[in-house]
Amino acid sequence: MCAIDRFKNYEMGIPEFDEQHHQLIGLVDELHKHIKDDDHSEMVRLMDELISFASYHFSFEISYFREKGFPYIEYHEKVHHELLLSLNKIRYNLRFEKYVDKYFTQTIEDLLYGHVDHYDMQYVNWLQNHKH
Ligand SMILES: [Fe+2]
Ligand SMILES: [Fe+2]
Repeated sequence: MCAIDRFKNYEMGIPEFDEQHHQLIGLVDELHKHIKDDDHSEMVRLMDELISFASYHFSFEISYFREKGFPYIEYHEKVHHELLLSLNKIRYNLRFEKYVDKYFTQTIEDLLYGHVDHYDMQYVNWLQNHKH
């Protein structure tokens, strides 16, 4: 089963977020395909795209949370920052050390799932408890 199918379990029910999460996971699937044909330059390109889209998504999410009055924004921003550091570390290894362990896309997938499932979902839970 590809990552995008597994991701169905992590939907938040907020269309903009779900679409952006799908797009991120779609890039992980693309990356995974290129491990098989060992296309290093394409993997680096996709990793760049993944990080730039993740940055965009994180800013989008923070603005959205701010607009809705979600109270844990600062903490969420910190977690995004740490996630970007981890992704950048993977990119560095890929780009400069040409280090591709065959599980690296699984690591990215786990980082993204972990974030959505634990941290992004805190917003959904908060929203459910604050509906008027
Ligand atoms: Fe997210
Ligand atoms: Fe987030």
